Amino acid sequence: MLPDRISSYISDHLEVFTAELARFLSIPSVSTLSEHAADVRKAAQWVLEQLEKCGFNGRIYPTERHPVVLARSPEVPGAPVLLVYGHYDVQPPDPLEEWQTPPFSPDIRDGYIYARGATDDKGQLLTYINAVQAVLAVAGKLPLNLIVLAEGEEEIGSPSLSKFLADHRHELRADAVAISDTSQFAPGVPAITYGLRGLCYLQMDVRGPRFDLHSGSFGGIIHNPAQVLADVLHKLKNPDGTVAIPGFYDNVLIPEQWEREEMSAAPTDLEALKNYLGVSELVGEPGYSVTERSSARPTLDINGLWGGFSGEGAKTIIPAKAGAKVSMRLVPNQVSGEIDRLFTRFVSQLCPPGVSVEFTGLHHAEPVLVKRNTAAMLAAERAIEIGFGKKPRFKREGGSIPVVNMIREHLEQENILLLGWGSPDDGPHSPNERFSLGDFHRGIRSAAALLFEMGK
Ligand code: BES
Ligand code: MN
Ligand code: MN
Repeated sequence: MLPDRISSYISDHLEVFTAELARFLSIPSVSTLSEHAADVRKAAQWVLEQLEKCGFNGRIYPTERHPVVLARSPEVPGAPVLLVYGHYDVQPPDPLEEWQTPPFSPDIRDGYIYARGATDDKGQLLTYINAVQAVLAVAGKLPLNLIVLAEGEEEIGSPSLSKFLADHRHELRADAVAISDTSQFAPGVPAITYGLRGLCYLQMDVRGPRFDLHSGSFGGIIHNPAQVLADVLHKLKNPDGTVAIPGFYDNVLIPEQWEREEMSAAPTDLEALKNYLGVSELVGEPGYSVTERSSARPTLDINGLWGGFSGEGAKTIIPAKAGAKVSMRLVPNQVSGEIDRLFTRFVSQLCPPGVSVEFTGLHHAEPVLVKRNTAAMLAAERAIEIGFGKKPRFKREGGSIPVVNMIREHLEQENILLLGWGSPDDGPHSPNERFSLGDFHRGIRSAAALLFEMGK
């Protein structure tokens, strides 16, 4: 349910809400860049201030890196408790020259707000705060108890959150957790996400001679680390695109029949997708649809590679070193630590004597499937139908949200609602990231409706 007066209040205050979002988006809270640490703190402060204005009681908790904001609404005795999680940190905005307007000077055009963090995740997080503002303005009190947990380290893999959740588990007891950090099924078709991929992200550094050598004098008698890197990377995949690491697929859960049907019913316009991506071909594992390949099957990707001379002109050398960053998206029941071991063992075996390879773990996040058909899930379904005017579809996302598994583990919480208000073409992590103001509106409505549906 969403009382009419609250619905109207939201519609009447969209400009105010959008202006608040623009202020939030103008804080360059890039968590991975240390020069932005003060901005990340500023964003935390901003979130806390918004909540305090709603009468929430909260604090900013420092961690080894970026702070956690934890705040709770005035107590409504006997009412259910909803925990809302979101992140106020963002990815780096580069390449800057690809942005039509600067990433931290939010610009509104064609019904979208453009800025880094617009959809991931500031815009989506803010919908809950705006919903609370609307409910309080009209009704004077919330229909349930709300806890807001916002972190500034999601985009660097949530390194502090496991400990934070364990330390604060008593304060975080709730009937359900809502997270809006995913996207709709298709533009205009809302979704509830019940699965996320995990991540195993490694850097490999290949080293050969002590320093760069004249390739004329020494070519032909030693291994070239850049060549070794290329050979190894090549052997990670089979010609059909599947991953060649022995054991990689051992624990992969095959999607169930209903899932395959739901996924094949996805209104994916492949031509539109190719257009959006600027590619003429879509590729992938034989026997699986595009939707399955991008969400329910594991992958391996080279995220970056380097080695030797890449400046202007030519330099005749054998480089002393070369390296690559490789990420693997995992699906249930793969375990990131195990995949890490399989990868490092396989690559170490492929490296010939005379060169060394060193691995650095960058991210480990576990894949998840959350419980469906729970009372909380039904409440979320109703809330979305109210907010979007359409029933949500169920989907799995290809991205990762490390906190989801931590919540299950440390809070022993199975009622996790992944309710994405964003659209698949919002461009998170890309230049010109955006959030549709229509989706922002529907998100606020859905969030407000969720407070009532959960409060029943
Ligand atoms: N909001 C995304 C997760 C996501 C991505 C959901 C795509 C749905 C579709 C989140 O902020 C994110 O980017 N996560 C990282 C996790 C990593 C840094 C450990 C990711 O998936 O790369
Ligand atoms: Mn996110
Ligand atoms: Mn992200």
